[in-house]
Amino acid sequence: MGFYITTAIDYVNSRPHLGTAYEKVTADVIARYKRLRGVDTHFVMGNDEHSQNVYRRARELGEDPLAYCDRMEQVFRDVWGRLSVSFDDFIRTTEPRHRVAVQQLLQRSYDRGDVYEGHYEGWYCVSCEAFKQEKDLIGGKCPIHLTTPDWIRERNHFFRLSKYQPALLDHYAAHPEFIEPDVRRNEILRLVESGLEDISVSRAGQAWGIPVPFDPDSVVYVWFDALVNYIAAVGYGSDDALFARWWPAQVHIVGKDITRFHCVIWPAMLMSAGLPLPERVFGHGWVHFRGQKMSKSLGTVVDPLEAADRLGADPLRLYLTKEIPYGGDGDFTWDRYEERYNVDLANNLGNLVSRIVTMADKYRQLRLEPSSLGPGPLAAVASDVRSAYVTAMDAFALHEGAAAAFRLVDATNVFIAESEPWVLARDPGASDRLAQVLYDAGEALRIAAVLLLPVMPTAAAEILRRAGESVPAEDIRFDDADWKSSMPRTLVTGPALWPRLQDQPAERKADIPTTMESHVSNTPEWKPNAPAPESPAPAATTPSPAAGNDPSGARVSIDEFMKVEMRVAKVLTAERVPKSKKLLKLWVDLGAEQRTIVAGLAEAYEPETLVGRTVVVVANLAPAKLMGIESNGMVLAASTESGKPILLSVDGDAQPGMRVR
Ligand code: MSP
Repeated sequence: MGFYITTAIDYVNSRPHLGTAYEKVTADVIARYKRLRGVDTHFVMGNDEHSQNVYRRARELGEDPLAYCDRMEQVFRDVWGRLSVSFDDFIRTTEPRHRVAVQQLLQRSYDRGDVYEGHYEGWYCVSCEAFKQEKDLIGGKCPIHLTTPDWIRERNHFFRLSKYQPALLDHYAAHPEFIEPDVRRNEILRLVESGLEDISVSRAGQAWGIPVPFDPDSVVYVWFDALVNYIAAVGYGSDDALFARWWPAQVHIVGKDITRFHCVIWPAMLMSAGLPLPERVFGHGWVHFRGQKMSKSLGTVVDPLEAADRLGADPLRLYLTKEIPYGGDGDFTWDRYEERYNVDLANNLGNLVSRIVTMADKYRQLRLEPSSLGPGPLAAVASDVRSAYVTAMDAFALHEGAAAAFRLVDATNVFIAESEPWVLARDPGASDRLAQVLYDAGEALRIAAVLLLPVMPTAAAEILRRAGESVPAEDIRFDDADWKSSMPRTLVTGPALWPRLQDQPAERKADIPTTMESHVSNTPEWKPNAPAPESPAPAATTPSPAAGNDPSGARVSIDEFMKVEMRVAKVLTAERVPKSKKLLKLWVDLGAEQRTIVAGLAEAYEPETLVGRTVVVVANLAPAKLMGIESNGMVLAASTESGKPILLSVDGDAQPGMRVR
């Protein structure tokens, strides 16, 4: 059986923002998960173009409405492409296939006697594209948009929604899964139980919309029009075989504000036309920005492209999936986004990848063979994680699914720290154990990457490649997340996936929302096989007691490294420090200044041999007193087992004062 999943179609009077992107990304995670499970999946999204606001926006810009919608289609497609949203079809309500479907459905309702003519008089909020009852207004304004609705008096066609109240209640009772999560279901039950009024399904005297088939002077009400996209996209009225293949949908993913259109009006429309109902409607929550509703007028809109450009599309997808319980509301701030990036990606997953590959390289020339000892404790962790992941993802608890994958990442980092492969590597008798530790860590990483494919498709594919997985990412299926106990793998080295962000208050943009129209993309996305993005700095490691011995451990970022000011210096004078075997007192030239440095070079160098020699010194070391002499810097030298230092040689062209980096 297939899996047909849809999202709400977006109004195109403005660009996508992080809230609308949230819906598309999370639906994409579900679609990718289904494909991973080997389910034939059809994922449809699109644009809702017949809104009055779209028409007005086009006119404001002096553009033809259809040309404006054509242009906006590309804007939307670009954003979804940048966020790796893998829809199979994209429907626009101005397309002929949609128009045919809308007219056919309305005609069927009409023929059935469910549409009648009447007069509508009341309030209409153009932003909601909905008629409002007086009792729902606050201070005469739409409670959602805080704008005064239009007073409308016109001849309309009405749909007998009230007639379907009993059938809807029966359906909810027989199919409790129809509305999820429970909080939405309860809202809808209360609403329908309190009684339904018939709704107007046409607007008189307007040109922008689909003509009512039995009254060409009216256009179809935009919601009646928009909802039909779900069947139009799979061939209703245009391709019977396609329609039979995909309808009814397994799930409509929509925001909580429009659940009632999908759980009340839409099923009634389908019942009236004699069509099967979708299996479920999932009403996700809202993404707020710093606790506030994302709204242009409040200036609290976040541009998803800016968020993707700042840290990458995959880190953004991870944030949206893992940090917001699916079905509930969540919050986005730039600080929290960066914090989660550092914790989950730079320090945790990215670090794990570099640790494993570095050790595999250093101890096994990248080739990991299964050990004669068989799998260690990580195999059981992986198995538990797999089950928890499936349970969560099947229930659309996407945040729990992502968290489960990260439990395996955590466990693998802890396993490495506790097993201390760098200690095992020094013990020839521990070769089997070392093989087991490396193989198991590599296998756990590979499995975590399979589970993360739906959430972070590009990065997880790259991790799989580095972990030596030979199956291409697009062919990976959930069975590949089984623990393979006898599959030698050759790992692949590469740059740090997620360099740690440093606190850079000067460069850091505060939590100020972007102007949506002024977006400029300038940071290249990290791609597999390409060098790391902004800086080549390796990921910092998760602190571990033995980090200093870990060949990949305790890295510093380029920014930390640059704090150490190393400069070329010329030794002007050198003399022994009285009563010290090791110390020499040097007077050095640093270009702009001369100073004293006390250096532990006496056991290796006669003072006079150093005079005139060019050395490298740490120039910004805090002064220290050695044998009563204040030393202002440190001369760099290699330290040997015997304790005798070896000075670094500096080519003749280096002049005193030059920075070394
Ligand atoms: N065009 C209608 C939907 C018609 S579906 C047959 C519409 N469009 S919209 O552009 O306003 O919203 C598109 C989707 O984005 C809706 O599901 C809406 O709930 C969702 N979101 C809009 N803002 C959101 C957040 N701040 N957070 C999460 N989802 C949000 O409604």
